Amino acid sequence: MDNQRNILVTGGCGFIGSNFIHLVAGIRPNWRLVNLDLLTYAGNLKNLEGIDEGRGYRFVKGDICDQALVNSLFKRERIDTVVHFAAESHVDRSIVDPDAFIRTNIFGTFTLLEAARSYWQGGTNTIAKPIFLHVSTDEVFGSLGESGYFTETTPYDPRSPYSASKASSDHLASAYFHTYGLPVIITNCSNNYGPYQFPEKLIPLIFNNGRNGKELPVYGDGKNIRDWLYVTDHCQAVVEVIDRGSSGRTYNIGGNNEKTNIEVVTLICEMLDAKIGPLPDGRSRNSLITFVTDRLGHDRRYAIDSSRLKEEIGWQPSVSFEQGIEMTIDWYLANQEWLATVIDGSYQDYYKKMYA
Ligand code: NAD
Ligand code: DAU
Repeated sequence: MDNQRNILVTGGCGFIGSNFIHLVAGIRPNWRLVNLDLLTYAGNLKNLEGIDEGRGYRFVKGDICDQALVNSLFKRERIDTVVHFAAESHVDRSIVDPDAFIRTNIFGTFTLLEAARSYWQGGTNTIAKPIFLHVSTDEVFGSLGESGYFTETTPYDPRSPYSASKASSDHLASAYFHTYGLPVIITNCSNNYGPYQFPEKLIPLIFNNGRNGKELPVYGDGKNIRDWLYVTDHCQAVVEVIDRGSSGRTYNIGGNNEKTNIEVVTLICEMLDAKIGPLPDGRSRNSLITFVTDRLGHDRRYAIDSSRLKEEIGWQPSVSFEQGIEMTIDWYLANQEWLATVIDGSYQDYYKKMYA
């Protein structure tokens, strides 16, 4: 399946969006991508090195909350598909300072839905099979006990400002399907990891601190569980949902890789010790693990049942956690300059020079 599409990718300079663009450039040459990204702290043009501006790809620096800009992009680029990644994505930041989460995640999604409604339904445009794919999270379902899985019918129970803002945007997207017949698809996925992830998130943070012999902060008792999904598996699922998903449908995307945080941190320490040697004083990096005050409202366990995606679309994850974490560590070891420019903030100079 490789029909021509004009896709508006929002947040394509972030972690998952940039992996999506790299994947699509390789496997869907007929998909034209327009990347709309505000380049917040989480957006990094270096994530897209090797993706050249031209017939198949265009970058637009801008805000998804800017209705006039978004409307004009739909029209000028004849957008028939939206893959909406742009968001404020980090739970800890949402606890300290929720404003941007409400604005971008709720109002930004609303702005895009309005633009799609106006362009796809408001005039004489003939857009074949449009799709508005809203990328969301398993965090909207709340927290699981020791057993059970999130399915597409699990009631929403968001518990952080981040997950509440994503839940709101899911409800808006769903309402636009039911009220206006807008061809909305929602995907709810579990914790992604892999190349280009900003080092505020657990895995790259532990890599970076472990590499530099710094403290490894583990919240609470370290026994919270996440279901880890290798980012390319997630992006492949998104491609397949665009190919074969049904309008108005929700799909859960999970990695079948439930791990406690302490298991994740210990594995990274062991792999780093094996690949670059122990600390200068001969100790393992495990000795750097420090249990710190727990995150407020910290959800205990997430686990996804993605059988709908397997049965209806034919997708399942292909990367085990052990494979994925090794690929991730190897990528960060090979791309220490990328990491250094993110840590010292100089990655932002790059776009200032290009788009000043
Ligand atoms: P990220 O924080 O790495 O990237 C977000 C991107 O959005 C950045 O490039 C940023 O510049 C851009 N952006 C932010 N505000 C914007 C605005 N107002 N206008 C235009 N662009 C803006 O996020 P990510 O981890 O790649 O997550 C992408 C999506 O996937 C998010 O919607 C997130 O909720 C969802 N998600 C992420 C995970 C995960 O584990 N990372 C899991 C489930 C769902
Ligand atoms: O489940 C999907 C969600 O996964 C996405 O919707 C979010 O955008 C994404 O950020 C991620 O949220 P988490 O809060 O689960 O990811 P984070 O990497 O921040 O934390 C993973 C776990 O590790 C979590 O239980 C908190 C814990 N943690 C995190 C950090 C940053 C620590 O113990 N120490 C830390 O320093």
